[in-house]
Amino acid sequence: MKPILISGVQPTGKLHIGNYLGALKNFVDLQNSGKYQCYFFVADLHALTENPKPEDLNQNIIDLAADFLASGLKPASGELAEPKKSVIFQQSQIPAHSELMWILNTITPKGELERMTQFKDKMEKIINRSQIIKDSKKPKDALIELISRSHGINMGLFNYPILMAADIIIYDAKFVPVGNDQDQHLEIARTLARKFNSKFGKTFIEPQAVHTKTPRVMSLANPEKKMSKSQPESCLFIDDSIEQIKNKIKRAVTDSGSEIRRKEGKPAISNLLEIYSALSDKTIPQLEKKFKGKNYSTFKNDLAETIIDYFADFRKKKSALLKNQLKLSSVLKAGSQKAAKVANKKITEVKKKVGLI
Ligand code: ADP
Ligand code: TRP
Repeated sequence: MKPILISGVQPTGKLHIGNYLGALKNFVDLQNSGKYQCYFFVADLHALTENPKPEDLNQNIIDLAADFLASGLKPASGELAEPKKSVIFQQSQIPAHSELMWILNTITPKGELERMTQFKDKMEKIINRSQIIKDSKKPKDALIELISRSHGINMGLFNYPILMAADIIIYDAKFVPVGNDQDQHLEIARTLARKFNSKFGKTFIEPQAVHTKTPRVMSLANPEKKMSKSQPESCLFIDDSIEQIKNKIKRAVTDSGSEIRRKEGKPAISNLLEIYSALSDKTIPQLEKKFKGKNYSTFKNDLAETIIDYFADFRKKKSALLKNQLKLSSVLKAGSQKAAKVANKKITEVKKKVGLI
């Protein structure tokens, strides 16, 4: 049997070029390699941790299914995963993920979760936005405690990596294509698989991350930070219009100097070169040669054109897919039925092992 590969994306809005180059493009390449049995899903339970409006969440789920299909994922139609096709599903339609999460909760030390960078970053963002902190003269620690008690930091954000571990290990997945911001979460998934196995006997496989050459695309506004949906002004979205792409690339911050070269201490131009290279199949040295002696504005115009051309087909396909939302829902439903068979078998085994049945 081919090794199993899985990844999920949160339906929290439009996908940016970091999501695409760090994850989605790779999903398609890995699917098309024919070497894996692939599962890709809409991580809607994870998206709930951001407390979205119900109607937005509902639309974002459909939108992400359209992103998956428009970028080249193909839903498997047979009983078992077919070669070069993927099981495309919706996390919340498979209660076994949440059931396994609960069981894994009971073997996870709280301290493991407290050191998660993504959790700490999210907490910091919420705290920085808070007026209470800005206005108050109380010590910061006391205020953080107050805020985490009252609002903003919910338990879902804290438990997030355990649900993610459940998502992965319930399918015996060996490979998980993700950006490198997810490495710590993968480490927890491995630790939990190992811990469960040693306590209750061999049940799970320890998964590992698969990265692309661009596992961390940086923000257009601040190349020291990763591009992230939570900062939309830093993002180039893959379904941005031609005008938006031109404007965003024009406005992208640049380093001092004018050389088009990837260099330490020049994070902005290095990031733009990485993006260009990933979308054009030209290596960075080839690009450096092409733009030798040229100015930033020539480079940026060329980059914008490359991005526009690259996503032209995607934009067309996505808007056609969104005209038939019922069909997109039925793709998710059919995929979820397939995935549920695998997940249900595993959760039954787990329940037996821990003594529930
Ligand atoms: P975001 O971090 O923008 O909110 P998600 O958490 O939904 O996006 O991430 C979806 C996938 O995209 C994950 O595999 C994640 O690791 C990857 N990813 C997110 N941001 C980047 C980035 N800037 N560069 C590369 N990959 C990224
Ligand atoms: N945590 C991932 C992210 O923020 C999304 C995700 C949820 C995921 N479950 C997963 C990724 C399982 C890979 C495997 O992008």
